[in-house]
Amino acid sequence: MTVRHFLTLLDLSTDELRQLIRRGIELKALQHRGEPHESLRGKVLAMIFEKSSTRTRVSFEAGMAQLGGYAMFLSPRDTQLGRGEPVEDSARVLSRMVDIIMIRTFDHDTVERFSAFSLTPVINALTDMHHPCQLLADMQTFHELRGDIRGRTVAWIGDGNNMCQSYIHAATQYDFQLRIACPSGYEPDGGMVAEAGDRITIVRDPREAARGAHLVVTDVWTSMGQENEQKKRSRTFSPYQVNSAVMKEADPEALFMHCLPAHRGEEVSADVIDGPQSVVWDEAENRLHAQKALLEFLLHESTPGQA
Ligand code: CP
Ligand code: NVA
Repeated sequence: MTVRHFLTLLDLSTDELRQLIRRGIELKALQHRGEPHESLRGKVLAMIFEKSSTRTRVSFEAGMAQLGGYAMFLSPRDTQLGRGEPVEDSARVLSRMVDIIMIRTFDHDTVERFSAFSLTPVINALTDMHHPCQLLADMQTFHELRGDIRGRTVAWIGDGNNMCQSYIHAATQYDFQLRIACPSGYEPDGGMVAEAGDRITIVRDPREAARGAHLVVTDVWTSMGQENEQKKRSRTFSPYQVNSAVMKEADPEALFMHCLPAHRGEEVSADVIDGPQSVVWDEAENRLHAQKALLEFLLHESTPGQA
């Protein structure tokens, strides 16, 4: 039995990640041309959401339908997971019934424990530590608009959060330099930074991080689950807004990305997110195509067994 999971970008090889970009682009063309591509006919995806979502839910659900399969939304409010059934037991039960499982939750440990007991592939659709599906879309978007990201420079401005940490993995896997500008005390995980070596630089000044960058990225200052820190975070992060002064430092051809949802006037100014360098709508659309490529890949590479 071989089961491939996708909990972080490190679960796939560099070649496999590049293959996903190629397939994501192909699937996008098929979708845009209205050509049927039902490679997952009869397959069922279970989607466990312990946090809110618009893009992730809709892209996985629409993606499965377009591939000829079915997606099932499960919320802790109306499953036994929310009433304390162990993650390990839920994994054993669900994976005997469905072909692939997607989870959005708080502790990264939950997806690790779930995948350890799952007979079918598990996809991390965001934890407090990582958001690898978003990176598949971001990397496809950069590739489509600017070519290979290898050797380029990316500026991450803001919180050293789950998105930032997936960007650190991306820097290693796709081979680019990542400059992170964050306030003291809001750095990404030190172990991850150390593992990525000299690809990562941490600075305090957003303009310094953006200097000459080919891609400028930010995210909310207060992530899901941190709502009680919102006031303090708004104060601390106020010098970290991506605005035209920051974009001016970047390469003239630089793109702006944000995983969304965005707060105009906080982490990004309206003129930047709604301006010509912003590719946030392409980025959001690519969640659909990149994840369809991921679903096909994991199902193709796995030979689920019996317990
Ligand atoms: N970017 C992203 O994951 O969006 P949702 O929270 O809407 O799924
Ligand atoms: N960092 C954000 C990303 C949302 C898609 C959060 O975890 O809330």
